[in-house]
Amino acid sequence: MAYTIPKLTDYSAAALEKAAAELLSASDQEWQEVRNEADWKALRDRWMARKNGILTLVNDLWLKPAPKEAKRDVGQRVNEIKAQVERDVEKGRGLAKNYPILHECFSSSVDITLPGLRRPIGAEHPVVKTTNEMVRVFQKLGYSVADGPVVETDYYNFEALNFPPNHPARDTQDTLFIAGQQGKAQRERLLLRTHTSPVQIRTMEKMRPPIRIVIPGTVHRNDPPDASHSPMFHQIEGLAVDTNITFGDLKGTLDHAMKEFFGSNVKTSFRPSFFPFTEPSAEMFVSCFICGGSGKRGMDPCRPCKQTGWIEILGCGMVDPNVFEFVKDNGYDPKKVSGFAFGMGADRIALLKYGVDDLQLFFQGDVRFLGQFA
Ligand code: PHE
Repeated sequence: MAYTIPKLTDYSAAALEKAAAELLSASDQEWQEVRNEADWKALRDRWMARKNGILTLVNDLWLKPAPKEAKRDVGQRVNEIKAQVERDVEKGRGLAKNYPILHECFSSSVDITLPGLRRPIGAEHPVVKTTNEMVRVFQKLGYSVADGPVVETDYYNFEALNFPPNHPARDTQDTLFIAGQQGKAQRERLLLRTHTSPVQIRTMEKMRPPIRIVIPGTVHRNDPPDASHSPMFHQIEGLAVDTNITFGDLKGTLDHAMKEFFGSNVKTSFRPSFFPFTEPSAEMFVSCFICGGSGKRGMDPCRPCKQTGWIEILGCGMVDPNVFEFVKDNGYDPKKVSGFAFGMGADRIALLKYGVDDLQLFFQGDVRFLGQFA
């Protein structure tokens, strides 16, 4: 039997108490039976409607006709009843929302006790990690990070770096050329950049000296993949230009950076080399941080340094005046400024640092391998 609100004849405390308790128990009961939105709305009208809703009737049937002496007590009761019924309405609202979902879970074939989907957290790739660490070393020296496009023009990749058309030095950096550009002037033809050095020119076009920049990035070359080569790999480039920059600055900066990166006991060694865009040019070696420079590991030969005690890390040199000529108008008069540049292979450094013997492992995406660096 649905609850109907009685008229009150007896206004004694006991009778009031009894009537209120019956009403509240009916409310509690009815709101617990809400199963959906429609149930909830129907009940809301039954209890809350301004016209003939139970709460309105409480006023009309209990409070209004109450004798003067009982008004205070009845009024207090009625307020308590209203507060409690409002709480029941909210409980009912929750049920209307959640019951259909719970019902679905418990009555369908979904097994809610099965474990959830695991979403593994990723980790930095070892090459990215190595790059970030090296970049950080130079940032601490005041260098800022610059970057540029991977699809580059012949001009920035070669010509402005003092590789004239048909210069034999281009042969060492063969790459993929974008097809169908025969109609364009050679300097505008697009290719996949073979080094991060074009960003030297791009940055000098935008920023006047003095500059100190470090340039991490992806590069491509026509190198078939093997344990130490890949047609795609990563470089970290550096460039410093100011008045009176000397080869001593180059050596001091790179020696400091290597000690910071590999540990304070490594030594550096510079040997003559050639790059079209630096003069003089050098290759920098660090003393082998695997065998400590001895060339031996116990009785065995040290493989990473091929028993020489030295590992080649990067190419570097003083910026060739011919390069400054290309950006002269932006304040790089070779008679007034000088600078040094360097470039290293991030993948090669990561290989050495982590003792990995096959470069291809870095690019195969096998999480059993990559997970070891997490
Ligand atoms: N760009 C050169 C290379 O890829 C490295 C280099 C950079 C050498 C800067 C000197 C100065 O081989």
